[in-house]
This record gives sequence, structure tokens and C-alpha cells, in this order.
Amino acid sequence: MSSLFSRTTSFQRELHASDEEFRQIRDYIYELCGIHIADNRKYLVENRLAARLKDLNLKTFGEYYYYLRYDKNRREELNRLFEVITTNETSFYRNPPQLKVFQEVVLKDMLAELKAKGSRRLRIWSAGCSSGEEPYTLGIILHELLRAEIASWDIKITASDISTAVLDAAKSGVYSDYALRTTPPEIIRKYFKQDGKEYHLAENVKKLVRFDQLNLNDKLQMKRVERSQIIFCRNVIIYFDDEMKTRVMSSFYDNLLPGGALLIGHSESLHNISRAFRPEHHKGAIVYRKDS
Ligand SMILES: C[S@@+](CC[C@H](N)C(=O)[O-])C[C@H]1O[C@@H](n2cnc3c(N)ncnc32)[C@H](O)[C@@H]1O
Repeated sequence: MSSLFSRTTSFQRELHASDEEFRQIRDYIYELCGIHIADNRKYLVENRLAARLKDLNLKTFGEYYYYLRYDKNRREELNRLFEVITTNETSFYRNPPQLKVFQEVVLKDMLAELKAKGSRRLRIWSAGCSSGEEPYTLGIILHELLRAEIASWDIKITASDISTAVLDAAKSGVYSDYALRTTPPEIIRKYFKQDGKEYHLAENVKKLVRFDQLNLNDKLQMKRVERSQIIFCRNVIIYFDDEMKTRVMSSFYDNLLPGGALLIGHSESLHNISRAFRPEHHKGAIVYRKDS
């Protein structure tokens, strides 16, 4: 994903929003998707949206706000808005110590428990999946643990994001070496086919994952996701305020099956957000558990 400043030309830098225009757009973004933009980040809104104004031939941020709210093409523009205001930084095997706990403790125990109950049905939700590196990593981990036995399991990883641009990239399953910067070399050799500068993910991993556009600020959309044993929502709630975090956690709690596990980013915490989950402390990771 390109950085904020590489997307900004000198022409676009000349566009400024008045305080009132900034407030209108900032509040509307929050109303739409729960992303909180602090008062001192007007430059961020100006920089990220300048190209949109230029493409639409609009002169002021006030005109852009009206376009977002009332134009007949507003739906399409909302997708462009989500594309430019979200931060999509991610990689395969992001935060290895947490994934080690996930593979060797959480998933291993869960698969054993399911088998003991005579069930081979597993549902995982990667919420805020960006360009697919996280859900595909979970697919690879499942292959690593189950090996040939995976064929006898009914596994689905639902991967959702608000940005259709990242979801389109995810569906292709084609990555650059940058996406693999935190991935063990033997995993790259085993699950990717290199073609020049492109790395093509193996079909047996791709087929475990279903991508879907979903706004975490929309309770009804959240309710439509099949109930899961595991939810990953890493490096997403850092963009939300406490009220939005609380709403999202309550929907995750409802979605999780009894005994299910929630994993969030290493810089994120549920302190003062939710007491519904029981935190389990492991070396390298906290797992938030729904009691069985
Ligand atoms: C920094 S990425 C995290 C990707 C991945 N989970 C990881 O940890 O590597 C955050 C993602 O959250 C998504 N996001 C932000 N607000 C959202 C919302 N309201 N609903 C759904 N996705 C959202 C963004 O589009 C972005 O792709």
C-alpha cells in the first residue's frame, strides 16, 4: 500500500479545509465507520482527500461533504473514501510470538476438543483483514497443524474489511516480497510459487478463505457473520474511540461460540472496554476467552 505522502502531489497540497469543513467531514467519517480523527489531524484529511476533490472536479471540502451525503453516486464515493482514509498496513506472519501461542496452544487445544466431541467444523473470522495477509496466514497455520487430515475438516475463514480496494487485492492471492517480510523462508517455499517479482499463494490455502465487505460500525452486517470459534481483529480498534471499541467488542462477544477466543493487536487492550471476556495470559500473547 502506498504511503499517505506518496499519494499527494504538490497541486493537492494547496487545498485547505476550513475548520468547519474539517469538522463536518471528520464527524461524518466517524458516523459512517467509527474511525476517530483527532482535532489536530486536519492535515491528514486534507492530504488524503485532495485527490478525490480533484478527480470529482470539486473546489472545496464543503462541496465534497455534500457530494458524500447527497450525490446520486455517493455509494461509489463512500468506497473511495474508505479506501483513502483507512490504514492498511499488514504482512504475512505479523507478530510471530502471538501466532506461536495461537498455533501451539489455542488452535491445537480447540481442534483436539472439537475432535473429542466428534465435530470437525471450524469457523474463524478475520475482521479488518486488509489485503488478506492475516486470514491467509491463519489458513497456512491450519495446514501446518492438520496436514493431510485437513481434507476431512469443514473449515471456513471469513475475512472482512470495509475497503473494497484491499479486498480485491486479497482475492487475487498475489503478493510482493514486502508482504512476506515477516514470513519464515520455509513457509514461503511451501505455500507460494514465485513468478518474477510476484508470489502466488497456493490454492489449498486460498480456498479456505471467503472475503466480504463489512463495516464494523454496522451491527446488522456483523450479525450476518456465521458464529465463530476464533476471531482475529488485530490493529483495527486502534483507529476507534472507546465507544466504538465497546460496540465492536459486544458484537464479537455475541458472534463467538462458548469457549471461543478473540485475538487483538499487541498494542491494543480491552482495559475499560469490555469485561465480558476472560483474559488468558500466555508468553507473547493475551487471548480473550468467552466462557464455555
Ligand atoms: C492496519 S489494518 C490491519 C490488518 C490486519 N488485521 C493486521 O493486523 O495485519 C486495519 C484494517 O482495518 C480496516 N477497518 C478500519 N475501520 C473499519 C471498519 N469500520 N470496518 C471494517 N474494517 C475497518 C481497514 O480498512 C484496514 O484494512
